[in-house]
Amino acid sequence: MSDMTRSLLEDLKAILGASSVTADAERRAAYSSDETLPWFDRHYTADVVCFPENTAQVSAVLKYANERRVPVTPRGAGTGLSGGAVPYMGGIVMSMERMNSIIEIDVENRTLTAEPGVVTSEITKAARERGLLYAGDPCSGDISFIGGNVAENAGGNKVIKYGSTGAHVLGLEIVLADGSILTLGGKRRKDVTGYDLIHLIVGSEGTLAVVTKVILNLLPLPARVTDLFVPMRSVNAAMRLVAAISTRGGVIPSSVEFMDRKSIQNVKDYTGMEIPHSEAAAFLIIQMDGMDRRQLWIDVERVGDICVELGALEVFVAEDRNARDRVWRIRRLVAEEEWTNSMALLSKEDIVVPSGSISEFLAELPALAERHRAEYNAYGHIGDGNIHMTIFPMSDMEPDDLKKASNAMCADLYRLVKRLGGTLSGEHGIGLKRREYMNIFLDEAHIALIRRLKDAFDPNGVLNPGKIVEG
Ligand code: LAC
Ligand code: ZN
Repeated sequence: MSDMTRSLLEDLKAILGASSVTADAERRAAYSSDETLPWFDRHYTADVVCFPENTAQVSAVLKYANERRVPVTPRGAGTGLSGGAVPYMGGIVMSMERMNSIIEIDVENRTLTAEPGVVTSEITKAARERGLLYAGDPCSGDISFIGGNVAENAGGNKVIKYGSTGAHVLGLEIVLADGSILTLGGKRRKDVTGYDLIHLIVGSEGTLAVVTKVILNLLPLPARVTDLFVPMRSVNAAMRLVAAISTRGGVIPSSVEFMDRKSIQNVKDYTGMEIPHSEAAAFLIIQMDGMDRRQLWIDVERVGDICVELGALEVFVAEDRNARDRVWRIRRLVAEEEWTNSMALLSKEDIVVPSGSISEFLAELPALAERHRAEYNAYGHIGDGNIHMTIFPMSDMEPDDLKKASNAMCADLYRLVKRLGGTLSGEHGIGLKRREYMNIFLDEAHIALIRRLKDAFDPNGVLNPGKIVEG
């Protein structure tokens, strides 16, 4: 251990207590990576990891680090997919895991106030027990923390109807780099008193402030939820159907998820599971929810008819808990399966294009993959135009070659996305993984403004340095 690390450790012990900071090599390694790609973050390790238990402690650590120019990387549950929680410049990783209380559920105001280290699904459960809905639904919700969801503006499965995490945030308590504590917003649903700093902090990936409290909007809990599992004759037909659910069906579904044939094939190979019509070109999961059982059934029938008319090979209707779980298990396994091979992956993508351009995007992918000698499967939140792709090289590669090949392919892919009016990331964030591609999507003046905002919040550059934009 270097002298600098030793004194950092001792100083943090004095601030937080000995049991709230560690420089143990194994723990430092465990708290220095996320789920981006195993070859991606292997060069970066924290000098120390700390575990504050309250806002005052977060403030004290930041004040100390800011005065001494020590980098601080805030960390949720580590489920991120862009290297947001990776300590690029070493220094302190600040795990929020001990700030894990649901402080209050206010039924009358329909709000829930939580510390950042609460697991997202605990929030959903606590709201449901009070007859309310927390409509944020990130795919890693059983593990991820609400603080991480806020930092990344996590999306997930219900964005088409309910919006990303930011749509549910009414208020935040934050700590700035210099240790000052601010409350933004509150339990109110309107606020134009000054700039909308809440939604600047949401999605800022821990580069502007550390979130220490979140006030969330809750909704009435839908009485009934139904999922349709729909194998489709062609990708184009699937895309026409996605549009028609709303334009002709008059329904905003709570989810419209997509899996291509290869995604389904991977799940079959991985689990041995039987999936009906598994040779179909595309698969949709359409979820609808509502308060009125009869009305929901009328909507389901109408959308089901449109599915058949537009090329569904069959429409499976899942109403009870078990049937619905079976449908969503398939979708979850698509993302889980890729982990079995993630050491060899070129990339996991999170691009977004306007809904009307998805067919063209998907049609261009085979040629693009061939140019880069890669294979892929595509899936994701098609209702939002947000497509994930898991991309493999056709032959084995060393980590450094993987990185080079990944860079070349991503640059090509992103130019296509840009041409179609799309953008770089819908829900996984920029972090370290995508920062070098920001200039494909944002012009110079835009990036310069991002840098000036960063300077205004964090003039010494101690908060999660190196993320979103380079240098
Ligand atoms: C999903 C994650 C990867 O949609 O965002 O499964
Ligand atoms: Zn996703």
